[in-house]
Amino acid sequence: MDFLKRCNGSTLCYFTKRCQRACFSALAYKGLLPESMMDLAYGSTSHTVRRIAPQIPSRRSCTTTLIQEQPKSKRELPQFVQQHLDRLQLEVTGALAGTANDVISFGVHRPAGAVETPSNKISFELQEMAKYYFSQGGKLYRPTVALLMAASCSHDRMLETVSENQYKIAVVSEMIHTASLVHDDVIDESDTRRNRPTVNALWGNKMAVLVGDYILAKATQLLCSIGNAQVVSIMAQIIEDLVKGEFMQMGVRDSSSEARFLHYMQKTYKKTASLFANSCKSVAVLAGCNENIQRTAFEYGKNLGMAFQLIDDLLDFVAQSATLGKPAGADLKLGLATAPVLFAAREYPELDRLILRRFSESNDVQKAWDFVLNSDGLRQTRQLARQHCEEAARLIAFLPNSAHFGEHLTDLAMSQLDREH
Ligand code: FPP
Ligand code: MG
Repeated sequence: MDFLKRCNGSTLCYFTKRCQRACFSALAYKGLLPESMMDLAYGSTSHTVRRIAPQIPSRRSCTTTLIQEQPKSKRELPQFVQQHLDRLQLEVTGALAGTANDVISFGVHRPAGAVETPSNKISFELQEMAKYYFSQGGKLYRPTVALLMAASCSHDRMLETVSENQYKIAVVSEMIHTASLVHDDVIDESDTRRNRPTVNALWGNKMAVLVGDYILAKATQLLCSIGNAQVVSIMAQIIEDLVKGEFMQMGVRDSSSEARFLHYMQKTYKKTASLFANSCKSVAVLAGCNENIQRTAFEYGKNLGMAFQLIDDLLDFVAQSATLGKPAGADLKLGLATAPVLFAAREYPELDRLILRRFSESNDVQKAWDFVLNSDGLRQTRQLARQHCEEAARLIAFLPNSAHFGEHLTDLAMSQLDREH
């Protein structure tokens, strides 16, 4: 080990350095590498790599997590944002209940003594299934971003100025997100989310498709109640992007690594960042902001969303399944080459073949996992996420009410880098 440590000088040739890191990695896997030397194994500079549990999703029995050296203390959300979030679950439950047109519905609560006809039963069951993910108390990250952006776009500089319509955007953003997860779990054949069985695992694929559709329909009704055609169109763009993003993810692999990276970034925008970007733009429109501010709000959401997904893709390699609430290491098994793999492939061109065949041959997943952990891919992914966080933070100063809420928006962006799930 002393020999390996001495070899860590800048005079080492590229090949030797690679061998050296592989040796350190091998020692780390066997539990023989001291904590203080973990950085040498994983090529990490800005963070500590910690060995946390004797299990990984594939065959080998070791996993790592990236943690910040100094976790930042968390700033409390403004009280009015917290209050809005607290009532969001009730709001969604209300939105998922039947409307006046829905003559067969009993609404949220079945009235005592109500006659149970077959059609009443169907409506009630659909609502109950649709409420399943909302009742689990998710992070409500998207509504939080929308609410803080709404307050930051306010021109009258009063505190706590989020209109009812802006609040509806926050609610709709969470509903669209949840509908897409219900469908995504069918596509990915996932049976756990947030440490609980998925809708498809409980009620089957056919029901899950209908439940996702139902949530989307109710979100659309709530959106239309805002009565602003431009905002309806902006929010509809999110749904188009989600579908196209998912479609891109299934598509064939580009042959050049540059084209693959571009494809990945475009897919990431559509699948994840569009929802943040267009929700931010919608609340800016509803605040009466000019086009420049609307664009700034959009760009903030876009950069935040890109960082969010990059960190998600990083966590798939470094976090534990229990923390994530879903199986870690899932992307490779689904045949997906995310940023850590694409960066690793620049160092290890051998990865290209595996990427092109979507890690479909025996041992491909394990080999790709090894390449990624032995490469600089995790650090580079994090670095790219940081660039997006910093760009989001830079834009905040251009928002009308940044003096009051800018720090919160900055926290939201930068805290991506501390996220562990
Ligand atoms: C999670 O991806 C999924 C999404 C961000 C969007 C999925 C979009 C669709 C299924 C299109 C249909 C859209 C609607 C609105 C019904 P992931 O698999 O990378 O993340 P995960 O690990 O959390 O499952
Ligand atoms: Mg999935």
